Amino acid sequence: MAIFYVNKERVDVSSSVAPDTPLLWILRDSLNLTGTKYGCGMALCGACTVHVDGAPTRSCITSIDSIGTSEITTIEAIGTTAAGAKIQKAWRDHEVVQCGYCQSGQIMSASALLASNAHPTDSDIDDAMSGNICRCGTYVRIREAIKQAAKSIEQGD
Ligand code: FES
Ligand code: FES
Repeated sequence: MAIFYVNKERVDVSSSVAPDTPLLWILRDSLNLTGTKYGCGMALCGACTVHVDGAPTRSCITSIDSIGTSEITTIEAIGTTAAGAKIQKAWRDHEVVQCGYCQSGQIMSASALLASNAHPTDSDIDDAMSGNICRCGTYVRIREAIKQAAKSIEQGD
């Protein structure tokens, strides 16, 4: 049964798609949530990252029958979460984005990190972000933005 929640809205695609359909295609093609990107389709680039019950998850290889009644959060709603709002502000402040293609996935991974670890070390950041590839090489700005967001959380800004 494919009934789950996306950005707090109930989604029922039981009768319209095969159970092994990747979540990414439901988001993009059925729900028109095109902020989540297709990159490699093999869990190698991170462009398709969403949150499944808060955990960063590669939607390109996640079948809808594997997610049960989970809560999915996409880039379209990440700004409604505390960590996501901090991350998005820091992204703007540091002008992280270049072409932008990888950035939804980067923000989803970074916000999941901060939601679970408000004081990440450099090593924590590297571990959390290592699966998100940026062909424009924005890694330095990404790291600085994550640090700013973490500091903002610490200071209660
Ligand atoms: S498109 Fe899913 S990890 Fe690359
Ligand atoms: S900003 Fe272009 S691929 Fe990351």
